[in-house]
Amino acid sequence: MATFSKVNFKSLNYNTFRPHYPASFYKILSDYAIGKDPSKLPIGKSVDLGCGTGVATYPLLNISEKVIGLDLSANMIKTANSLKQERCKEMGVESNRIEFITGSVESLVTKGESSIFGKGDVDLISAAQCIHWFQDYPKFFEASAKSLKSGGTLAYWFYIDPIVVDYSGSENDTKEVKISKLHRSREIIDKYLYDDPNFAGPHWEQPGRNILREYLEEVNKNIPRDLFEDIQINQFHADVENAPFPGQNDLDIVNHKLPVSAVGDYIGTNSGYHNYKEVNGEKAIDIPNQILKEWETELGWDKETTVEFVYNTGYTFMKRKQ
Ligand SMILES: C[S@@+](CC[C@H](N)C(=O)[O-])C[C@H]1O[C@@H](n2cnc3c(N)ncnc32)[C@H](O)[C@@H]1O
Repeated sequence: MATFSKVNFKSLNYNTFRPHYPASFYKILSDYAIGKDPSKLPIGKSVDLGCGTGVATYPLLNISEKVIGLDLSANMIKTANSLKQERCKEMGVESNRIEFITGSVESLVTKGESSIFGKGDVDLISAAQCIHWFQDYPKFFEASAKSLKSGGTLAYWFYIDPIVVDYSGSENDTKEVKISKLHRSREIIDKYLYDDPNFAGPHWEQPGRNILREYLEEVNKNIPRDLFEDIQINQFHADVENAPFPGQNDLDIVNHKLPVSAVGDYIGTNSGYHNYKEVNGEKAIDIPNQILKEWETELGWDKETTVEFVYNTGYTFMKRKQ
């Protein structure tokens, strides 16, 4: 997946505008990894694949003695390292407990024991919002199983595109009008990101984006049942007609009362949009801005409007067979 590696990809924007996963989710992950036995904390070594700027890497320090983040983008690793002293200070942890390395997951698969994947000494492998880019899932699962201790955890999770589920002033609309505005807000995003071939749609790297949009079905179907057990697959599909969703989503990424521009900021970090701009140069339109303009014209959401938005999400956990 090359887009995040491009030198002009804004990795600091990525860190700021992308969702960070809730503490409650790390608790679910931690409980799974230790079998709810607190005496097993901290676990020893965790490896966070496709770590980007370290969004999911730092929180692993709460449960793991040593954490290594790996990403093929030198740009992302540079940002991750630049944030290191500050993040470790905030968390009150020694900075030598976390390390970021540039490299591809495929190189770990090839190098096996001579890489950070080690010799069956890893307690937890995580891959947040990135497994859809990996190549050759059978080989990936095999190499992960070799690098994990027996009973060690492989966990991957994802989110797909923001879905507005409420907006300021919605109490002045009838339920029908509200639902129709919420659906329309999503259709406008889809037009620019996927459906209209004149915009970002054709510029996503494939098959990665489609694998993500299909809830990692392609990944999950390759899980080798002879190597892994206790496989838990959890998915959340937001249905705007039944929002909010208390207790329904383990990986509950909710943005409360943010200005509409926050959705635009997120869309600005999409790799499909980045590629569209590169290909079209000066002819490229500012897609996030265009979406916000159409929201204003069609839905009456101006810059004073605040929105609540969620993401469709999912995760898969499994344990290396004993
Ligand atoms: C959408 S970002 C996710 C970053 C972070 N894990 C998070 O949850 O925000 C995807 C990251 O995966 C990295 N990536 C994609 N394919 C990879 C591969 N084959 N090996 C290593 N990193 C990869 C990209 O460079 C990018 O930084």
